[in-house]
Amino acid sequence: MEIDSYFSQRRTVRSFTDAEVSDSDIRAMLEAAMHAPTTGNMQLYSVIITRDDEKKKALWPAHFSQPAAVGAKVLLTFCADFNRFVKWCEQSGAVPGFDNFQSFFSAVLDTTIFAQQFVTIAERNGLGTCYLGTTTYNAPDIARVLELPVRVVPVTTVALGVPDGDAVQSPRLPVDAVMHVEKYNDYTREDIASVYAPLESREDSRGFIAENGKQTLAQVFTDVRYPKGNNEVFSKIYRDFIESQCFEV
Ligand SMILES: Cc1cc2nc3c(=O)[nH]c(=O)nc-3n(C[C@H](O)[C@H](O)[C@H](O)COP(=O)(O)O)c2cc1C
Repeated sequence: MEIDSYFSQRRTVRSFTDAEVSDSDIRAMLEAAMHAPTTGNMQLYSVIITRDDEKKKALWPAHFSQPAAVGAKVLLTFCADFNRFVKWCEQSGAVPGFDNFQSFFSAVLDTTIFAQQFVTIAERNGLGTCYLGTTTYNAPDIARVLELPVRVVPVTTVALGVPDGDAVQSPRLPVDAVMHVEKYNDYTREDIASVYAPLESREDSRGFIAENGKQTLAQVFTDVRYPKGNNEVFSKIYRDFIESQCFEV
């Protein structure tokens, strides 16, 4: 099998030129991305395109003013959306039963796959993209700016533009680290050490450890990048918001 080298060469882009991405290109890419698989072909998503400077400025704080959010020509907020489908059910004599975790999670899967399909199409056409995970941190603020109705929950945002220079490629674990044959082969201490050793020995990793005053790379993740306290605070904000949008989670 020959796999297109795009897949092993791709990388996230966080710096963009001033060049525009046209509405017609975005529309065409979204239309193609809509051929992604979805739960029962229900297509439980919507995407809000933000190009207007005032709207982008209103969204930036919710994205902690990350450079990719501020520098991108366009922000696309991908939302799990049962609003459209429930309305269709209700005006068609069908009783919807989607106010639960299972349904919400299906919509999140549909939305995520759709977003990634869009990202692949954009990247293959020479554009740069960066996911903004901050969407799940500050969903209520984003929902307010984008005027999302009930049953619509922002899942992720893609910053889009023309790449400014070459982005650096990030390393990956070896495929054997993630691939299990027939059953899950749990990791020994030695497996874990050997799986993460190449990552830990990189110069940039050693730099992260030193500049954060940590002993190990894992501590950079647990203590600096994704500390428990933050995870808990943002979990509560997101869960409360999801429930306010009519999904029991
Ligand atoms: C769900 C998700 C959220 C992400 N959030 C951010 C983000 O908030 N800011 C950012 O700069 N990159 C973000 N990224 C990009 C990752 O940092 C990036 O994919 C990862 O480091 C691997 O790098 P690569 O995509 O260049 O291979 C996110 C990626 C995903 C899939």
